[in-house]
Amino acid sequence: MVERTFMMIKPDGVSRGKIGEIIQRIEHKGYAIKAMKMVQPTPELLAKHYAEHVGKSFYPSLVQYMTSGPVIAMIGEGTNIVSGWRTIMGTTNPTLAAPGTIRGDLGREWEGEAVMNIVHGSDSVEAAEYEIKLWFA
Ligand code: TYD
Ligand code: MG
Repeated sequence: MVERTFMMIKPDGVSRGKIGEIIQRIEHKGYAIKAMKMVQPTPELLAKHYAEHVGKSFYPSLVQYMTSGPVIAMIGEGTNIVSGWRTIMGTTNPTLAAPGTIRGDLGREWEGEAVMNIVHGSDSVEAAEYEIKLWFA
């Protein structure tokens, strides 16, 4: 199934100069980038994007991390891209993420409760639709 997903390079990916490497991995896989922009996330936008996490213990450090600089927001398209992009990203915790994945190779632990895991990908087709509308309104 050809799907669309919402992909993001988080602030540490931008500040550490990893935009090119991450986009290269997307292109190597054969996914199309249909839209792309640099955005400075606000706490208001993040509360909608991470609605399921508002109020959790790690949420304040997640917002601190995600507002620390601009991000690259992208719409990706490809066959089964929603789960495929999450496979390429690797699991949430960079210490546990497999080598060869973006988070496994490039992600770092955060000193507070949030993890600096460098990339985001929607976790379902429904979430992708919601996040694309939110970031590309
Ligand atoms: P989540 O949606 O569970 O992970 P993923 O990004 O893999 O879909 O969590 C969203 C972000 O919140 C995650 O990328 C990093 C942060 N987070 C923490 O900092 N600590 C945690 O224990 C969890 C679950 C998430
Ligand atoms: Mg998630």
